Amino acid sequence: LNNGVARTPPMGWNSWNTFGCNINETLIRQMADAMVSSGMRDLGYRYVVVDDCWMNSTRDAQGNLQANSTRFPSGMKALGDYLHSRGLLFGIYQAPLDRTCAQYFGAYPGATGAQGHEYQDARQFAAWGVDFLKYDWCSPTGTINDQVARFALMRDALASTGRPIVYSINPNSIHEKTGPMRNWGDVANMWRSTEDITNAWNTGQTNGYPMGIQNIVDVNVPLAGYAGPGSFNDPDMMEVGNGGMTDTEMRSHFALWAIMAAPLIAGNDLRDMSTATQTILKNPQLVAINQDTLGLQASQVSFDGTRRVLAKRLANGDVAVALFNQGGSTTTISTSAAAVGKSGSSFTLRDAWTDSTSTTTGTISASVPAHGTAVFRVSGGGTTTPPPSSAFRLRSESSG
Ligand code: GLA
Repeated sequence: LNNGVARTPPMGWNSWNTFGCNINETLIRQMADAMVSSGMRDLGYRYVVVDDCWMNSTRDAQGNLQANSTRFPSGMKALGDYLHSRGLLFGIYQAPLDRTCAQYFGAYPGATGAQGHEYQDARQFAAWGVDFLKYDWCSPTGTINDQVARFALMRDALASTGRPIVYSINPNSIHEKTGPMRNWGDVANMWRSTEDITNAWNTGQTNGYPMGIQNIVDVNVPLAGYAGPGSFNDPDMMEVGNGGMTDTEMRSHFALWAIMAAPLIAGNDLRDMSTATQTILKNPQLVAINQDTLGLQASQVSFDGTRRVLAKRLANGDVAVALFNQGGSTTTISTSAAAVGKSGSSFTLRDAWTDSTSTTTGTISASVPAHGTAVFRVSGGGTTTPPPSSAFRLRSESSG
């Protein structure tokens, strides 16, 4: 969406993965403080997104949304002010139609969902200082055309406020799926490409709840052609630091989100991070690869069912390459500079995890543990062309 924001993938934190509905203003402020003290803010993590359950289940007499008075007694404007005073940005959650996914709803026209109140809610959000809206399709039914119309209405309502607000939609919180993933780049800055994530490597689900990291990668990789500045596939908030996976798997999770140009929205308790978690979330090379100004999502160079090679062209002519081992034992994964789009005969490889550099005449190869991902930044050589890709638009684009 060309609305001036999210020219690179948004980075931040969201309350849902760890806290669900157990949120309140003290918790959010503590998380904001941790974002600053951990150094995450200064690396680019700036959006603090309050997910579902911040609101009352009814609107006031004028039809305005109200903050839940138990959880957010000081109100949402005060929370936004707090975040802004710390150099952070304020994200909030709402749903079209009649309910949020945690079933905060009442009968229309008193409904908590935005239906019939889109412009009013957008003005309210702008007045509270909101910088990011997550807009979550929570009705159990709806066609793709309903979704396009409803999501576009809020896009226009947000634009009418004149405030720059990242628009994040979720067409996938719906039990009846609406068919192949549409390219939502004309509607939103980011759109969920899968069902909800959980802190597991593989749940066996590819289109149902909950999905593991491996399952999400399988679905999100083929959507690479949709991504660009202002418009990103959203494979969901991260589970780094939430247990349920090995350190190797957590590293793969982050590396793959980074190279897929996914929004890097942490979903862990930032007040209590292990050194391993901090090392992952604050990896400066991977953040730089993710935030590259070309805004490209890595395309697939090769995949044999176990060994997946992804390549992301970068603004300065370098190419980031991920060697991802989806198998259950250590294996060597190899590609070449030519296969990832670089001409020439001498290259430098910088390992994103160890920060060590090596030189090569073309081979890019590593021994990768089960579920691991090696990432190299390839520089040198001559011109860079987009890597040949078998991955673009495998899921058909629907009309509307
Ligand atoms: C849906 C979304 C989640 C979260 C919950 C809140 O399941 O996909 O990310 O926002 O709703 O109820």
